[in-house]
Amino acid sequence: MKTFTLNDGNAIPAFGLGTWKSSEDDAYRAVKEALRVGYNHIDGAWIYQNEDEVGRGICESIKEGIIKREEVFVTSKLWNSFHAPEDVEKGCRETLTKLGLEYVDLYLMHWPVAFRSGKLMPEGTEDFWPLSDLPLSKTFEAMLKLRDQGLVKSVGVSNFSISKLEKMIAESGVVPAVNQVELHPYNPQEELFSYCSDKGIHLTAYSPLGSGDRPKFLRHKGESPVLENEIVKVTAAEEGLTPAQLLIAWAIDRGTSVIPKSANPGRIAENLAAASHTLSAKARSAINEIDTRFRYVDIKEWCLPGITCEGDNFWV
Ligand code: A2P
Repeated sequence: MKTFTLNDGNAIPAFGLGTWKSSEDDAYRAVKEALRVGYNHIDGAWIYQNEDEVGRGICESIKEGIIKREEVFVTSKLWNSFHAPEDVEKGCRETLTKLGLEYVDLYLMHWPVAFRSGKLMPEGTEDFWPLSDLPLSKTFEAMLKLRDQGLVKSVGVSNFSISKLEKMIAESGVVPAVNQVELHPYNPQEELFSYCSDKGIHLTAYSPLGSGDRPKFLRHKGESPVLENEIVKVTAAEEGLTPAQLLIAWAIDRGTSVIPKSANPGRIAENLAAASHTLSAKARSAINEIDTRFRYVDIKEWCLPGITCEGDNFWV
């Protein structure tokens, strides 16, 4: 499996299994099937509410000799309610206990937004920390200590914009290893992409297939979902790939790691096969020329009206 080298010297496999939106049963089965057919990278998070089952799939596979612990790259994410520096280790240890692992390979700050301790989801504006009181750098610094303790190998962030990265880096003096964000041809985030390339921050693409299991977000102003986009379909056929495989190959070709979610054995295998495909220059430019723009994951889904998270536009 192709890997990318992170700025701390560790390597991240270019392709992995996403587990967001997998039910507990699905997560267990998907992880077991993925590791069985050759995946070596599993992406999860505390908030996905399936970490026990993701962990069961990983630990059973290790016990059965399918993969060794050091051969599988496991990512998890600190939930927003553990941002207080004194809560960071607790959040991480909860994850490790659920996973049944002694360490994760990559630990990400899930969102650049802090909730009050113990608040799973905000129910009112008062449930957010005033971020002026709790800079993201403080949470990040506490996460870096987990690396010193051997609980995590690499530390990064997720859903961070350029300005949030700049501020956090300036305050902490440390460049995160990874920023995991939504990336696909409708949301290529070119500015963020070039900022992260310049800074040596590796990007991981989530929702690379357009998060098709969230039907309410599928249609945008009459445009096709990315998997049904005409250019994607035609280019995929020319390339001898399925549309999903083309999106995966495009993401890796761009230099991003990619973590499509699937709970279906056929599609789990289909997606893995794309990771070793070499994209043609023609296919690359065809996909790069798609000009529909749409973000499938929006903070507004769980931010209440009137809430501002360090600036009026959350994504800035
Ligand atoms: P399923 O789990 O039934 O395979 P994303 O990673 O962008 O969030 O996309 C996940 C969605 O894409 C899920 O609905 C998943 O369904 C579906 N999916 C995963 N792999 C493929 C594939 N190869 N072809 C079509 N849909 C896929």
